Amino acid sequence: DVKLKAKDVLTLEELSSEEIVSLIQLAVQLKKQRAETGSNPNVLQGKVLAMIFDKSSTRTRVSFETGMLHLGGHGMFLSGKELQLGRGETIEDTAKVLSQYVDAIMIRTFEHEKVAELAKHAAIPVINGLTDGHHPCQALADLQTIYEEKGTFEGVKLTYVGDGNNVLHSLLIGGAKVGLHVAAACPAGYEPNEEIVNTAKEIAKKTGAVIEVMENPQAAVQGADFLYTDVWTSMGQEEEAAKRLQDFAAYQVNEQLVQWAKPDYKFLHCLPAHRGEEVTAEVIDGPQSAVFEQAGNRLHAQKAVLAALLQ
Ligand code: CP
Ligand code: NVA
Repeated sequence: DVKLKAKDVLTLEELSSEEIVSLIQLAVQLKKQRAETGSNPNVLQGKVLAMIFDKSSTRTRVSFETGMLHLGGHGMFLSGKELQLGRGETIEDTAKVLSQYVDAIMIRTFEHEKVAELAKHAAIPVINGLTDGHHPCQALADLQTIYEEKGTFEGVKLTYVGDGNNVLHSLLIGGAKVGLHVAAACPAGYEPNEEIVNTAKEIAKKTGAVIEVMENPQAAVQGADFLYTDVWTSMGQEEEAAKRLQDFAAYQVNEQLVQWAKPDYKFLHCLPAHRGEEVTAEVIDGPQSAVFEQAGNRLHAQKAVLAALLQ
């Protein structure tokens, strides 16, 4: 059994390195158990996860709802717009009310502060299902994918090319915690949050991780074991899309750029992807792409989180 010291999973910063590795090992074990026996034990029998969505989702929604069912519990989809929250009821009141009914809350929204506020006033665990600042459940599944491929994090290089966004932030924190080498290449003006980079570098001092942020994509990709990119326009930034298309033009993951990676590199993307923008079809649909295993691991990694928080 994995027990977490923190009540909530908001950024991965609240988890220790050992807790993250234990969650990944539990995820691998739950995945194997289900593949071999067809099921997992009902450790969350009778437990309910409220899932609040203020943004679209395919993977997060379906994997959390399915994950709860696999463990004997229930996931309840709630559209933020249709909750009274959408008509001005406060986050504080919402947190206190939901704490009377359900066992945990997963929330996907815009400002990260809203999730922190919800967690502060909720008596139950709160899981961040993506904010403008962080995507911790994604990073856990990504780390699981890396671990399954390599069997270790030591000496493994993950290069992220593109926008210094929520997905990169969580990879920096999560990668630092487990001792990865994380190199990011972002265009000027699209660097990751400086405070988060500094936090990751501080963590790295203790874990042996290497954290690098630079502008040159070729330099970052050099010797990479994993090559990761994400959309250039995240949810909520739609009106910047045309400008971003220009600003990121030199950051496409294509056949030229992947030449700089290790010959046996694997391509990762949190999805959804835009073929012809941040990645070419040749790369994402090619033999070295692991994006669907990676997406599949959302289910397993989140089941581990749910089991650890709710048991
Ligand atoms: N990667 C991810 O979080 O996908 P969804 O937006 O479909 O949930
Ligand atoms: N950075 C993207 C990730 C989507 C899963 C976004 O925030 O829209």
